[in-house]
Amino acid sequence: MDNVDSKIVTKAKQHLLDEESVAYKNLKPGSGKYSYLPRHLTQVERWARRLLKEHPEALEEVVLTAVWLHDIGLLIGPEEVDHAINSEAETKRFLSSILTSEDLVARISHCVRTHRCRDIQPETIEAKILAVSDSASHMTDTVYIEMANRGDREAAIAKLERDLRDIFIFPELRKEIMSLYQGWKSLLIAYPNR
Ligand SMILES: [Fe+2]
Ligand SMILES: [Fe+2]
Repeated sequence: MDNVDSKIVTKAKQHLLDEESVAYKNLKPGSGKYSYLPRHLTQVERWARRLLKEHPEALEEVVLTAVWLHDIGLLIGPEEVDHAINSEAETKRFLSSILTSEDLVARISHCVRTHRCRDIQPETIEAKILAVSDSASHMTDTVYIEMANRGDREAAIAKLERDLRDIFIFPELRKEIMSLYQGWKSLLIAYPNR
C-alpha cells in the first residue's frame, strides 16, 4: 500500500470530469448537478486534504480517489438505486481496469459505498474522512439554502441534522461545526417557506 500510484487520483478525477467520459456526458448543461457536482467534489477534496493532515495514518491516495468517485453514481446507474450503490459498482469496474491491487480497489470501494453513513457505516479511517468531508462540505456550501429556496425547507433541516451527526464521527470538529450548524439552523427556521 505504500507504493500506491498517486496517478489514480488524477485518473479518477478525469473519469468524472473529462469531457469525453461517460459520466461527464450525463452531466447535462443547465441541470442542478452541472453547476453543483464539480464544485461539490472540489470542496470535498479541500475538506479531505485538511482532515488528512489531522490523520496522517490515513492513506491519501485512497481518500482522494474515493472523493472523485463517491458521487459518480448520480450520473451512472439506475436513478431509483441509492447513488452510493451505483458509485460503488462503477468504482469497482473502473478501478479494476486500471489497478492490479484488489486490496486497493476494496479499500476505495468501501469509502465510496459508506459515504452516506446509511445502511453500511464507514469502518476505516479513510472512509470516515470521506464521510465527514462530504457532510462538512455541505456546511460550507449553499446546498441547504438552495433546497429551502426550492420549497424543501424541512428536507434541508433534515439534511443539516444528518450532516451534523456524521461530522461528529470526529468529535474534535464539534466546536467548529456547531457554530456553522447553529447559523444554518437559525437561517432555515427563519426562511420563508412556500
Ligand atoms: Fe453522495
Ligand atoms: Fe458528495
